[in-house]
Amino acid sequence: MRVGVLTGGGDCPGLNAVIRAVVRKGVQEYGYEFTGFRDGWRGPLEGDTVRLDIPAVRGILPRGGTILGSSRTNPLQSENGIHRVKENLAKCEVDALIVIGGEDTLGVATRLSDEYGVKCVGVPKTIDNDLSATDYTFGFNTAVGIATEAIDRLHTTAESHMRVLVVEVMGRHAGWIALHSGLAGGANVILIPEQRFDVERVCGWITSRFKASYAPIVVVAEGAMPKDGEMVLKDGTLDSFGHVRLSGVGEWLAKEIEKRTGKEARTTVLGHVQRGGTPSAFDRWLATRFGLHAIEAVRDGDFGTMVALRGTDIVRVPMGEATERLKTVDPELYAEVGVFFG
Ligand code: F6P
Repeated sequence: MRVGVLTGGGDCPGLNAVIRAVVRKGVQEYGYEFTGFRDGWRGPLEGDTVRLDIPAVRGILPRGGTILGSSRTNPLQSENGIHRVKENLAKCEVDALIVIGGEDTLGVATRLSDEYGVKCVGVPKTIDNDLSATDYTFGFNTAVGIATEAIDRLHTTAESHMRVLVVEVMGRHAGWIALHSGLAGGANVILIPEQRFDVERVCGWITSRFKASYAPIVVVAEGAMPKDGEMVLKDGTLDSFGHVRLSGVGEWLAKEIEKRTGKEARTTVLGHVQRGGTPSAFDRWLATRFGLHAIEAVRDGDFGTMVALRGTDIVRVPMGEATERLKTVDPELYAEVGVFFG
C-alpha cells in the first residue's frame, strides 16, 4: 500500500506532527510506503512529489509550518483538474490520500472522494477553530497562547501611557481566537465577526474603564464589522493570488475611538505571528492523535471520512460534515463573556 499525504490552505502549527504520526505508524505498524505531495492540491495536480519516510519526519514534531509546503490551489477550478489529479495519483501508484486541511482543502477532498472515487481520509486543521464536526482543531491553542501573551504585554504599555490599545487578531468568519485570548488576557472589549458592534457602545466601555483609572484593551477579530452604515470594512480588493484582503478594522477602530472619546489609541495587528513557530504541547498532542487515527482509517478502508475530536475521543465523521457549515461563536457564549466588558 502506498499512501499520499498533502497539506493545503493556510499553514498551522501542528501540521508536521500529523505528518510524523501518519508516517511513523504507517511504516512501523502496517509496512506502508508514503509519497508526499508538495503545496497542497498543487502536488497531485502537477505530479510534484517529495520523499516521505521515517528519516524525512525525524525531528519535525516541534517545528511550525509544514515540510510539504502548502497552497490554496483548487483542482476543481483548474482545467481538467480532476482528471490530472487522478492520473498523477495513478502514476505515483498512490492507493489512498491523507488530506490535511481546512474548509477549502477538505471540500475538494470530499468531492473527489464522493463523486470521483479518489480514496481520501481527511484531517481538520485551522488556527481559527471554525470547522464543525470537531470540538477543536490543532493550531488554535497555539494561536490563542500567542495572542494572550501579546495582550498581557500590551496591558503594561497601555497603563504606562494611559492609552487605548486595540489588538487585531485573526478570524475572518469566526471569533474564537478573539474570544479565548480576550478572555484569557483580561481584555475590556472583545469584538467578533458573528455580532456587529456598536462603536458608541465600545466607546462607552472605554470611557468607563478610564474612569476606573485603567487603560482599556480592545481585542477585535479581523472579520468583525460595525453595525450597518458605519463603514465598509471589506474593500473586496483581490491580491495577485485572487484572495480577498480585509482592510484593517483595528486601525479604523482606533481612529474612531480617538475621535469619539478624545483618548489616545494605538493598534497592534498580530497577523501571521499567530500562525508561525512552534506548536503548543496541546496542539502537538492533538495533531499526533489525529495522524495516528487517520492512518488507522486508511488501514480500515474507511474513505470519505475525517478524524475529529469529540470530548477526549478521536472519532471518524463523514468528511462533508466538516465543510457544510462553519462553527461560529454562539450568542449565549458571547453574552457570557460580556460581563467583563467596560
Ligand atoms: O484560515 C486561517 C487564517 O489564518 C485566517 O484567520 C486569515 O484571515 C487567513 O488565514 C489569512 O491567510 P493568508 O494570509 O495565508 O491568505
